[in-house]
Amino acid sequence: MNNLIRPQPGILEIAPYVGGKAAVAGVAHAVKLSSNENPFGASEKAREAYLRAVHNLHRYPNTDHAELRGAIADVYGLDAARVICGVGSDEILQFIAQAYAGPRDEVVFTEHSFLMYRLLAHAVGATPIQVAERDRTVDIDAILAACGPRTKLVFLANPNNPTGTMIPMSEVERLADNMPRQAILVLDGAYAEYVEGFDGGLSLVESRSNVVMTRTFSKIYGLGGLRVGWGYGPAEIIDVLGRIRQPFNLSAGQMDAALAAVRDQEYVAKCRTENARMRAWLAQALEEAGVPSDPSHANFILARFSSTEEAQACDAFLQAEGLIVRQVAGYNLPHCLRITIGDEASCRRVAHAVAKFKGTR
Ligand SMILES: Cc1ncc(COP(=O)(O)O)c(C=O)c1O
Repeated sequence: MNNLIRPQPGILEIAPYVGGKAAVAGVAHAVKLSSNENPFGASEKAREAYLRAVHNLHRYPNTDHAELRGAIADVYGLDAARVICGVGSDEILQFIAQAYAGPRDEVVFTEHSFLMYRLLAHAVGATPIQVAERDRTVDIDAILAACGPRTKLVFLANPNNPTGTMIPMSEVERLADNMPRQAILVLDGAYAEYVEGFDGGLSLVESRSNVVMTRTFSKIYGLGGLRVGWGYGPAEIIDVLGRIRQPFNLSAGQMDAALAAVRDQEYVAKCRTENARMRAWLAQALEEAGVPSDPSHANFILARFSSTEEAQACDAFLQAEGLIVRQVAGYNLPHCLRITIGDEASCRRVAHAVAKFKGTR
């Protein structure tokens, strides 16, 4: 072995990301409620656009994403020049980390936040700083107390995954206005479209020079398999991110399907309404079975059990019933299970199975 060949500092600290389970051995038609996917899939218009893209497989895609950026800007009321598209919002988060943090810098995120934030900090050799939450809710004072002269990035998902909790925009504003001046606030809006009438922080991006927002086509748009996300921020920051983006990071099919999806807001509204209906129903059904949860603002519920053992036993019980949910021990929540809101039949099945496990049915 040649021990002069070494990876960059931080890389070996990375525990590889493990996605939600997709199958159970011995169960033919398991219901997957482990990855916060849209149970209704993508809009018909997005599927058709993707199929049409097959005729141009021999052509390189355009490099500036102009049409997709234009459609996003149109639908969300933004400046297209300050939209950047990536391979999932994960890639936008990666651009931000790569461009703005490195060795001796600190990257701040909270106790139960998305695992990619820690991973990205390590990937660029920065120091991850994990901040405590209050009852599974982001605590802005704790974040501000953790910031210092080395802080370069603060990641904040609102609503948060896997807790589903949300903080008011006034609190997010307080964070943006009181953070150290050399740091960027990265507002991760992966679940923003699930919140009726919520702009995900777009107005904050417009009014501040230190806020960048990321969004995804993987959740409410039902395109998780396609891998498209986008970011919005101040012109200087978007210019920097654009410099490290590979010119052909998105394929033509990805752009065509995402464009059709963002134009189909009727479908988005339908998915939002149905998600809210089934989320309220499932939360109530779990509560009646003796499994509490915090009010969720996203497309999943974080079900709380009395112990780690009980959560694990329930997970095993659900798997035996062909229901796959997500263990969240890696998010410092070993006594919880995250359950994606499925269609009505899946929600009924999972509620019935949890009640059976708890002996209330
Ligand atoms: C909070 C949060 N941010 C970002 C992502 C990444 O989404 P994608 O890369 O599919 O856009 C996810 C996916 O689960 C998430 O939960």
